[in-house]
Parts: sequence; C-alpha cells; structure tokens
Amino acid sequence: MKKIAILKGDGIGPEIIDCAIEVMDKIQEVSKVDFEYSYGKIGGDAIDNFGDPYPKETEAICKSANAVLLGAVGGEKWDNIESEKRPEKGLLRLRKSLGVFANLRPCKIYDSLKDNSPLKPEYIKDVDILIVRELMGGIYFGNRGTVVEKGLKTAFDEERYNEEEIERIARYAFEMSLLRKQKVTLVDKANVMDSSKLWREVVKKVAEGYKEVALDFMYVDNAAMQLVRNPAYFDCILTNNIFGDILSDEASQISGSIGLLPSASLGEKMGLYEPIHGSAPDIAGKNLANPLATILSCALMLRYSFKMDYEAKIIERAVEDVLEEGFRTFDLDSKNYLGTREITREVVKRIK
Ligand code: NAD
Ligand code: IPM
Ligand code: MN
Repeated sequence: MKKIAILKGDGIGPEIIDCAIEVMDKIQEVSKVDFEYSYGKIGGDAIDNFGDPYPKETEAICKSANAVLLGAVGGEKWDNIESEKRPEKGLLRLRKSLGVFANLRPCKIYDSLKDNSPLKPEYIKDVDILIVRELMGGIYFGNRGTVVEKGLKTAFDEERYNEEEIERIARYAFEMSLLRKQKVTLVDKANVMDSSKLWREVVKKVAEGYKEVALDFMYVDNAAMQLVRNPAYFDCILTNNIFGDILSDEASQISGSIGLLPSASLGEKMGLYEPIHGSAPDIAGKNLANPLATILSCALMLRYSFKMDYEAKIIERAVEDVLEEGFRTFDLDSKNYLGTREITREVVKRIK
C-alpha cells in the first residue's frame, strides 16, 4: 500500500488535484498498485478551518504518508494577514517539516507546442532544463522584520546559508546531471552577495568528486537573459531558493505555459509534489486551469517516491500524446480549448 497525503489548497488547487486523482486512479487500475489517499488542509483553506495555514492535523497526515501531493495555496482573501500566518507560510512550513531541501523543476519542450513558446523555434529546439532549487534555506527562512530606524519604517529579509545546506543541494544537482548532459551551471550573485561567494566555494569543492560533470558559473541577471537568448545552453541550473523561484516561472514560458511545469521536492525520506504555479485566482472555479503540471507532478511522484518509472513514463507519454493530437487548454489556446476536466479525461483515456 502506497500512502499519499493530498493537500488541495486554494484557488485552482482543488480542481487540478481532482484531475490528478483521476489519473492516479487509472494508474491503480492498469498497474494493480494500491494507493491510499488521506486528505489534509493547507493554506487559506486551513486558515478558514483551523486558524493555521499548516495545522498539526495536516502535519500528522503528511508525516504518516509516503508522499505528499499539493495543489496550490494563496488568494486575495488572505493577502492582508501578517506574513507569519499567511497561506504561503503554511507551504514553507510544510516544506521545512518534511525536510524537502531539493526542489527539481524540469522544463522541457513539447514539439507540438513549439508555436506556443514566445521564443522562435530555432531557439528552443534543444531545450531541456532541470532547475535544482534549494528549498529549505535562504531568504525564505532568514530573519525578517520591520523596525523603525531614524524615524523611518525599515524592513529587512536576510539571505543566509551554511556550508552543509549548500553542499547537500550541490550534490543533488551533480547526481541529477549524471543522468542528463553532465553539466551544472551555478546561478548566483557572487559579484555582490557573500552568501553567493560561499555557494561558489562549496560547489567547487563538491565538483571535485564529479570530474565528468562540467561546472560553470553565471550571475543571475545574466542567467535571466540567457534563458530567453540561448536557453539550450543550460542543462542543470543549480541555485538558491529565491533565484530558483523566479527563474522557474521564467523558464516555464519557454515551454509555452506555466500550467505545464511540475516539480518534485525531495529530502532524505519524503517527497512533496506540486505544480510550480500558484492558485491562479483569476481562473479558479471556471474549469479553465491547465491540470497537466499537476498530472506530471504525479509522474514525478511515481518515479522518485515509488520507483515506478514505467508508470511515470505512461503518464508522461499520455500527456505528450494528448498535446500531439492537438488538444489544448485555455492557457495554450484561448479560442479552441478543452476544460480542465475534459483534457484530463483525454489523458486518462490514453493510460493503458
Ligand atoms: P499564479 O501562478 O497563481 O498565476 C500567474 C498567472 O498564471 C495567472 O494569470 C494564472 O491564471 C496563470 N496560471 C497559473 N497556473 C495556471 C494553470 N494551471 N493553468 C492556466 N493558467 C495558470 O501566480 P500569482 O498570480 O502570482 O499568485 C496567485 C496566488 O498563488 C498568490 O496568492 C501566490 O502567493 C500564490 N502562489 C502559490 C504557489 C504555490 O502554492 N506553490 C505558487 C505561486 C504562487
Ligand atoms: C512556488 C511559490 C512559493 C515559493 C510561494 C507561494 C511561497 O511561488 O512554489 O514557486 O516561492 O516557493
Ligand atoms: Mn513560484
């Protein structure tokens, strides 16, 4: 029995998770594996029900599972709550409590979607990028606050990393690169930030154990530019929490839509799987959301948490087939599209 904790969250979260469950149910049917789902609340939904964006009930459900599947959190209703109690803080606490420090965000090009990319076809031809984002440290978890200094309201957020935190994520990136093109680009701001200098120092040391991997360094401002100028340059992008967050949304556009990019967040024991996008309040409840990023996150769950690579590929193949056959969601073609539920049905039909 494989136990999966399911956290639907806010906005489009419930819709896209329902689609993912349909796909997982079909996988159970064709591969005779048993999934046991347990449901918990997170984000705004948890604030409304428990007064806490990551209640202990949810933590217990997640910790007794083998993997966690999450939709998205956040929305206008909770935007004016103090930062410690916001829906997004619930997500950060979830990641921390599960110990998932390695956030893998793959960005690939579907041949059938090359016209959806804002980049010309010749620029995106060989794009296949894996962003390896540190997920449990940096500015997300550093000291922050608002004080009054010299009569002025002053706010600060601290970026802080120690050697161990950098080393473990660096190893992850090098290991992942061995399964790919053996190239790691450390993206940082070492021309300004001390934390980035430490990243370079530690990553160089880790690289000594991976002679077959080519390591290079790029400042984040240049990396943001190169992602649109020459995205095929990259194989693994290794970076900190905040740069990884920003660059992954940018990278999603190369593939055509943020609704396509899945993620896996991994640690020693646990895996958390979620699309890279947010709760998309502007399209919530309208059957317009693209569920494919969440469905592809299930494929990552099968691959990384359950060693079911064959079944992961079945899901990935089904998604690719649906796109190749010309089915589109609203984000990919606003004139001729299928709804969230309808495109899921097409994916499910192709899982055999
Ligand atoms: P967003 O990713 O929710 O939406 C950005 C744009 O992309 C919107 O126009 C939205 O409609 C579109 N979009 C996103 N996912 C889509 C999908 N699956 N299909 C079609 N279109 C999609 O980012 P935002 O608007 O900056 O944030 C909205 C809320 O989500 C905020 O409260 C934010 O904090 C939260 N958020 C949560 C997560 C998460 O839970 N992991 C990630 C990012 C943002
Ligand atoms: C993401 C989101 C989150 C992040 C927010 C909602 C805390 O943007 O998963 O990309 O910044 O990590
Ligand atoms: Mn983000």
